[in-house]
Amino acid sequence: MRQPDRKQTAADGHATGEANSLNSHATIDQAIDAFALLRDYFQGAIIVDAATRITWIDKRYRELLKLAEDFDPIGLPVEEVIPHSLMRRVVESGKPILIDVMKFDDRQFVVCRIPLKDGDGRVDGAIGFVFYDSVDYLQPILDKFENLQRQLSRAQAALTRERQTKYSLSSFIGTSTVVKELKAQVRRFALRDGAALIQGETGTGKELLAHAIHQQSDRADGPFVAVNMAAVPEALLEAEFFGVAPGAYTGADRKARKGKFELAHGGTLFLDEIGDMPLGIQAKLLRALQEGEIEALGSNAVRAVNVRIIAATAQNLEELIAAGRFRADLYYRIAVLTVFIPPLRERPEDLPLICETLLEETPHPGDQGDWVLTPEAIDLLSIYGWPGNVRELRNVLERASAMAPDERLDAALIRRALPPGALDGRPPRPAAPLPLPASSAARPASAAPAGINLASARAEAERQAILDALAASAGQKAAAARRLGVSRSQFYEKLKRHHIDV
Ligand SMILES: Nc1ncnc2c1ncn2[C@@H]1O[C@H](COP(=O)(O)OP(=O)(O)OP(=O)(O)O)[C@@H](O)[C@H]1O
Ligand SMILES: [Mg+2]
Repeated sequence: MRQPDRKQTAADGHATGEANSLNSHATIDQAIDAFALLRDYFQGAIIVDAATRITWIDKRYRELLKLAEDFDPIGLPVEEVIPHSLMRRVVESGKPILIDVMKFDDRQFVVCRIPLKDGDGRVDGAIGFVFYDSVDYLQPILDKFENLQRQLSRAQAALTRERQTKYSLSSFIGTSTVVKELKAQVRRFALRDGAALIQGETGTGKELLAHAIHQQSDRADGPFVAVNMAAVPEALLEAEFFGVAPGAYTGADRKARKGKFELAHGGTLFLDEIGDMPLGIQAKLLRALQEGEIEALGSNAVRAVNVRIIAATAQNLEELIAAGRFRADLYYRIAVLTVFIPPLRERPEDLPLICETLLEETPHPGDQGDWVLTPEAIDLLSIYGWPGNVRELRNVLERASAMAPDERLDAALIRRALPPGALDGRPPRPAAPLPLPASSAARPASAAPAGINLASARAEAERQAILDALAASAGQKAAAARRLGVSRSQFYEKLKRHHIDV
């Protein structure tokens, strides 16, 4: 029988193309024979050689692939013509893929790929058949596949939305001159693509601002990925940042895991509490920023990443540099654009509007109108020093609203909601960061009701110790953890367990 020439440079019109000399592989001859028989049952076919270069393709497949008349695919690696082709896998493994669904543009083809072997059983190529829309009984497979594809892209879109920012610049409330200037500065920053460093006391809205910078930038459609240096144990930080190659270490799951750098590709990587970053990771981060490349743990391949860094810290990085705990070179790389958020006590004129916004988010009983903060209550709030800034203000308002008999929040209620001694003229003490329900706020930790069991007494005591440590550290989690003599990760785990939202 006549066969297509595997060395021929243009595809002919038929499976049984021009007869030229086919090399010595009898098995390929047989394949081509079988191929002629099958011709009516498939809609296209292709042959590749041992190097997975296309040696033959039939006219119908060319048409399906919509290849231009003058385009000659012969000799090209198959993936250059059919990006999702798995012919290489078949050639390399010597195993067929008898049925598979392959995506091409927006269409799905059902395909069958078989290795071709020479007389000695060595793989010297592969043949692929395509079954497209004329095969009715394959339709359920295609439908199911398309359905799964749709579900997958929906899930991916949801994940991207989730990774996108929650806050825009308008969520950062304030009309004081400093806040207006700060917002103008952030708008300018957003247009540039350099790394940014946000400094400010705890609770001043650093994270909120990081989201806003991302949202204002050209990267707004890309992901926003956050890593909290204080929350991830040091031993896991490298994997968290750079990912893990498959089977990188024994016991590790064999699948590759993407690092935050890669997840943030095309978007922003937010490094929260950067002052807590261990020195070893600082060196690796610096290298990644300088090279624009990352290397997953256990891999020797580097991968280019395009990520904008926004870092935040409540600590004084210059002091950390002087103390040898932060690398100066990393600091200069990150502090290209710096923004400082002034503490709440330095901008009391922002208080009324921030209170109004926070109260809008504070739930109130169904039949009750909007919360009303009396002018005397606002006066009281502006006397206090707010070591925990807006986060503490949110907590105080929530605590006041939990105690309020109706929608009015007056000075007396605010006085009770502020931490004890807050208005004594003594330096203000930070409030416990959690809006405790009135009953538990009023109850000293030692006065556990009679009959309480040991486990819950212990849990209550632990919870109280955490709240006290947080209060004594002005809400600084790393400092509170040190005060309690537990690691940062243990501390975070406990915050989660006790539902303490700092
Ligand atoms: N200007 C503001 N307008 C509205 N809400 C604010 C503002 N500043 C802070 N907040 C709110 O205060 C809380 C704390 O903000 P955020 O977590 O961004 O602070 P932070 O500076 O990152 O604090 P920390 O250093 O403790 O991590 C959030 O609920 C945030 O929405
Ligand atoms: Mg923060």
